[in-house]
Amino acid sequence: MKIGICNDHAGVEYKFKIAGMLRREGHEVVDFGTDTEVSVDYADYAHALASAVEQGAVDKGIALCGTGNGMAMTLNKHQGIRAGLAWSSEIGRLVKAHNNANVLVLPARFISLRMALSIVRVWLSTPFDGGRHQRRIDKIPL
Ligand code: RB5
Repeated sequence: MKIGICNDHAGVEYKFKIAGMLRREGHEVVDFGTDTEVSVDYADYAHALASAVEQGAVDKGIALCGTGNGMAMTLNKHQGIRAGLAWSSEIGRLVKAHNNANVLVLPARFISLRMALSIVRVWLSTPFDGGRHQRRIDKIPL
């Protein structure tokens, strides 16, 4: 799978670890940055990732900032994006099974690296349940 990843300064360390894990597992990773801890604005990176997902340049996306909220708010302004915040493995499962999130958002300052890696694995390997969840998703766009 081709996976886009983006982050602000709060998500740099986890971004590199997640990208490394994904590459070792055979995925292609497109890194939308940033690559340093110099303070930046999360929206600049979220918009770049969202556009890549919407245009099909990547299959799915992962976004990291301190709380995850700035990334989620920005990503979800895009009509083609369903960005879901997850802070446990079970939420990582549900955000795919029920919400079919095409971008996973992680709160890098509030979860361990181990948890972040676990959430990514679960989200990627869980299928969308469809059915009543598809009906609900269809009602999201304005
Ligand atoms: C950066 O300090 C922080 O505001 C950002 O990473 C994120 O938590 C915003 O939602």
